[in-house]
Amino acid sequence: MKILGIETSCDDTGVAIVEDGRNCLSNIISSQEEMHSKYGGIVPEMASRQHLLSIVPAVSSVLENTGMEFDDLDAVAVTHGPGLAGSLLVGVNFAKGIAFSKNMMMASINHLEGHIYSAWLGGKDPEIDPGFPLLCLIASGGHTELVLMKDHGEYETLARTRDDAVGEAFDKGARLFGMGFPGGPEIERLASRAIGSETKFTRPVVKNSLDFSFSGLKTALLRRLEMKMPSAEFDPGDIPFGLKANIAKEYQDALVDSLVSRTVKVAKNKNVKGIIVCGGVAANSLLRDKMGSESPFPVIIPEKKYCTDNGAMIGAAAWYKLRVNPEYQWAMDIIPSLRLN
Ligand code: KG4
Ligand code: ZN
Repeated sequence: MKILGIETSCDDTGVAIVEDGRNCLSNIISSQEEMHSKYGGIVPEMASRQHLLSIVPAVSSVLENTGMEFDDLDAVAVTHGPGLAGSLLVGVNFAKGIAFSKNMMMASINHLEGHIYSAWLGGKDPEIDPGFPLLCLIASGGHTELVLMKDHGEYETLARTRDDAVGEAFDKGARLFGMGFPGGPEIERLASRAIGSETKFTRPVVKNSLDFSFSGLKTALLRRLEMKMPSAEFDPGDIPFGLKANIAKEYQDALVDSLVSRTVKVAKNKNVKGIIVCGGVAANSLLRDKMGSESPFPVIIPEKKYCTDNGAMIGAAAWYKLRVNPEYQWAMDIIPSLRLN
């Protein structure tokens, strides 16, 4: 089954054609990074307008890359939440138009479920190996959740963040260093230039809970940078580069440590068959390495290009739904605050 996957929940326009849930035939991401970078975050109105401009060329490109026409597709799948309302509307209405006019199956996909299914892309088959239950760490700009996946489409959320998402902590941290958006890759680059170590940041703990918390770390970073400022003016440009890199390394270590220690602890409690790490932050090399070395369970992390938002993960998730239940959800709508269960 060949599925056109469309993802427009946030800032990137992602379109892909995926065969049988695992084989991505073409994957186009039209990034809005440059447009939002100077604002230090996403401007929703600009994002939805840009999706309108990008979606037709992106769909045309995946068709051209695969030598396919709309009639060669079996289904259309689209993210219907959670996300920015204006952005979701563009993808959902575009998908409805194609599916209705071509009388094609159509699936609405939860963005978080899409991230989970990115683990199936590229040939790996966790359905056979290692099996269920799987513990999924979804770490993105809007979400930080630990989800127990009992089977395809069966989820139980075990923990989430009490305040900022971990990607948000990377983004806000980068802004404090005077760097652009998205902040994750910026912090990772700066941390890789560290020449020594600094005092460690205290790891955040939410008492009597499995939940995450990241806003305290961001405040601790602000205080640390303020302390290192030679003048009363807050200007990160005044701090020597090596010192900034050392602090960025400590900040990244603290964020990654929080994710890895909590995830491994819960995985042991639930005696899972494996751990999936997904969402934009899963592109972080330290997180990938640390989870791999500290988990006693098999760890499945998608290729970096499938970690940040993309249409392929939506096409993959849809296959596991449509192969069981053919769906023609032409009347579905966006749900900006959609949850996984
Ligand atoms: O999944 P995603 O593309 O969008 C959301 O659903 O939010 O995740 C974007 C987030 C941003 O916060 C970005 O800073 C973070 O993923 N990110 C990273 C890296 N690449 C992207 N965080 C840490 N290290 C990276 N290499
Ligand atoms: Zn995402």
